[in-house]
Amino acid sequence: MDYSPELGGIIYRVASLARRTGGISFAGGYPDPDLFDADALAAAYNQVFRDGFRASLQYGDREGYRRLRERIATLCSTAERPVDYQEVIVANGGQQGIATATTVLCRPGDHVFTEAPTFPTALHVFHQAGLKGQGIACDADGMLPDALEAALRRQRPRLLYAVPSYSNPAGALWSLPRRLRVLELAVEYDFHIIEDDPYGLLWFDAPPPPTLLSLAARVPGAAERVTHVSSFSKTIAPGLRTGWMIPPASLRDQFVHTKLGTDIHSALPSQYAIDRYIGQGDFDRHLPKIRATYGERARAMHGAILEHLADRVECAPPRGGMFFWCKVRGGGDAQDLMAAAEREKVFFVPGVAFYPGAPDRATFRMSFATTPVEGIVEGVRRLGRVIPDA
Ligand SMILES: Cc1ncc(COP(=O)(O)O)c(C=O)c1O
Repeated sequence: MDYSPELGGIIYRVASLARRTGGISFAGGYPDPDLFDADALAAAYNQVFRDGFRASLQYGDREGYRRLRERIATLCSTAERPVDYQEVIVANGGQQGIATATTVLCRPGDHVFTEAPTFPTALHVFHQAGLKGQGIACDADGMLPDALEAALRRQRPRLLYAVPSYSNPAGALWSLPRRLRVLELAVEYDFHIIEDDPYGLLWFDAPPPPTLLSLAARVPGAAERVTHVSSFSKTIAPGLRTGWMIPPASLRDQFVHTKLGTDIHSALPSQYAIDRYIGQGDFDRHLPKIRATYGERARAMHGAILEHLADRVECAPPRGGMFFWCKVRGGGDAQDLMAAAEREKVFFVPGVAFYPGAPDRATFRMSFATTPVEGIVEGVRRLGRVIPDA
């Protein structure tokens, strides 16, 4: 795998540089802190402090706090695939779900397929696990089944890692037929899938197709191959470090034991507070607000790109999530543009960080989540001075 922690860490470095210089940051996939539902979360914590605090200070169940697991099960259930709370394992963010699944499913030397481009901190896990990575071509409707099948004829992977709804970094949304086809291929070629879904609830105009977890019910043999991983990081707050994993039934105990070996269980006060927060109806009230705000910001970024960069970059406007994926027309290296962008005090992440193999150097990622509309328009206007004419 052509991955180095140095390269993968570029997002965190650019995001922290942006924070220090006080420029306009399109760098991190960070929710806007002004959108955190801080008062309602404080009320939920206060409720925990008044009632249940002692219990939350004690060791708890390895799988997580039962009431939160029940709420997550409800969140992930569909008519065709009801989820029982016993299937849910609470994790320290989706990242721990990716790491746990990789430990359970893979051995050094195994092959992992990912979208190209994909989420670098997942690549970090695969790198640490000694896996061999290969990127599969994608477009705005997700992974190209023909490209996947061609790769499968050459190499059998142990694992496919994918973010089918509003991917990071490409903002792609896998269509229903592609979701079903990839599940069929998982059965036919006998590989596992990690479905990473932190952005699925952040849709703008219409919800995404059902998750792979849900659709696996339609494809005989697929349910035993899908591990669903998700998180409250993008919808409530990443600092709470609360996510979850739903592995196939036959692997559940191995997932629990593997997580036990790393942290015994996830910290309980966050789990108690999120349970109260959801129970008071605050989560359901909060989601439409952040969907509307991120949708507005995405439209503003698209408008500004059309105005200031249309002849210089290509991009497909996302239908949810947090990211615009851009490509400098006529080639060039987005990493080379960073120094000039920094002088203009505007920050983005070059595409080179997002590939398990040879990167497309002309690409870069811009997050519209953290910056209000005015800043987005100004930041893109400044990029107009940085990115040369094609
Ligand atoms: C696709 C994807 N998966 C997982 C994560 C990690 O999130 P968490 O905070 O839930 O560990 C992120 C965070 O940016 C992400 O974009």
